[in-house]
Amino acid sequence: MTITHNSIKSLREALKPLRAHKTIALVPTMGNLHQGHISLVKLAKQHADIVVVSIFVNPTQFGVGEDLDSYPRTLEADTQKLKEAEADYIFAPTVEEMYPVMPPPTQVLAGNISQMLCGKSRPTHFDGVGIVVTKLFNIVQPDVAVFGKKDYQQLAIIKQLVRDLSFDIQLIGGSIVRAEDGLALSSRNQYLTQEERAKAPELHKAVQDLALKLQNGQASCDSDLESLIEQSIAAINAKGFKVDYLEVKNQDLTPITEFAGKQSWLIAVAAWLGKARLLDNQEVDV
Ligand code: PAJ
Repeated sequence: MTITHNSIKSLREALKPLRAHKTIALVPTMGNLHQGHISLVKLAKQHADIVVVSIFVNPTQFGVGEDLDSYPRTLEADTQKLKEAEADYIFAPTVEEMYPVMPPPTQVLAGNISQMLCGKSRPTHFDGVGIVVTKLFNIVQPDVAVFGKKDYQQLAIIKQLVRDLSFDIQLIGGSIVRAEDGLALSSRNQYLTQEERAKAPELHKAVQDLALKLQNGQASCDSDLESLIEQSIAAINAKGFKVDYLEVKNQDLTPITEFAGKQSWLIAVAAWLGKARLLDNQEVDV
């Protein structure tokens, strides 16, 4: 059975007696659930006895002029999907419940890691993620929390948060779930027109092309890597996207300084296609 709680108090009361003999997993979401989210629920079920899924379109992580008002809210359909996936609890609070004072004067800032990649064009985004995830961790007090690698930087920031605030939570990263044509599933894909949707998988293809070149050893120094990145950006833009960033980093998001020997890198990209800002990434062993 899947039970929905809208208040912090009632969720806490429901979870309290379970803690003595059950482990609890949390899957934070903003709703409008797709198979990417559901894969995280399934992963959570493998790691804990009880799965709590939060559904909250968090206003503090949206910048001025971003899509807070138009972000799809589909609680009824989400509830149905979570029943089918056999989640135990849905936590769907109102904005007033989560933020008695809005904007909240207390902040959870992640420093440098929140200013790179997506943080360059969304400078306050990860501050909002920091406070909402901290609150969710305090409300649910899960043993395990599951996040998608689709938002790789978000997962890295939450790893840092767990370390620095001493949360006793095991973090698990779920693989990116894609449509058959390769496009990473995202609630924001709905903003694409039919024509744009047909074009959208080109982003993933370009990342795969670059990954192949890196695996083939074509980047043996800084300037090789720079020129491969520039070629990829040009190829993506030529397809009608507007690249926000395309970067190659170490998987802990530090800059690449070592080219010799076995390396584990990450290609991370964000690009606009019409009204949608698409995110994608790929881990590569070179
Ligand atoms: P949201 O965009 O709803 O995503 C919820 C979780 O689903 C995140 O961990 C995200 O990485 C994961 N996810 C999204 N698309 C995925 C895909 N195609 N494959 C695998 N996982 C995918 O991320 C957020 O919400 C918010 O920032 C949140 C963490 C809930 C804080 O408000």
